[in-house]
Amino acid sequence: MKITFKVNGQSYTREVPPDMNLVTLLRDELGLTGTKHGCDGGECGACTVLLDGAPVNGCLILARAIHDSEVLTIESLARENGELHPLQQAFVDHSALQCGYCGSGMLLSAKAFLDKTPNPSREDVKKALAGNLCRCTGYVGIVDAVMTAANTISGETA
Ligand code: FES
Repeated sequence: MKITFKVNGQSYTREVPPDMNLVTLLRDELGLTGTKHGCDGGECGACTVLLDGAPVNGCLILARAIHDSEVLTIESLARENGELHPLQQAFVDHSALQCGYCGSGMLLSAKAFLDKTPNPSREDVKKALAGNLCRCTGYVGIVDAVMTAANTISGETA
């Protein structure tokens, strides 16, 4: 079926098979390989993208379901001047990424969370990221990074 949608501010029209999922559309059709394909079953969160501002597992969403919607992927997170988003910078500063496979999903879940919860507690952060699994670092650095980013962002908007 033919769908129209936006990804990272750019409009697209594509013919998609009825069973194609969103992560396949992003990676294989649009070349946006920052979104990762992990468990393919809604368990790991590696495929997380923002659909109309809310985090979703791209492996569980059919491509045809994004008709008339807007998707944001990790490729949209850095700022237009090329600076890293405060979340990305904080993940670097806290060594919160090792293999990096969970990173794009983790960052987008964190972004959606901080957009709604600008002054979170550590417990809030842990709950918000519960659907994103990291198999190498543990979570201390990740939570530290999100807390740091929250402070940076609230300082920028003060
Ligand atoms: Fe989608 Fe794991 S690949 S949740």
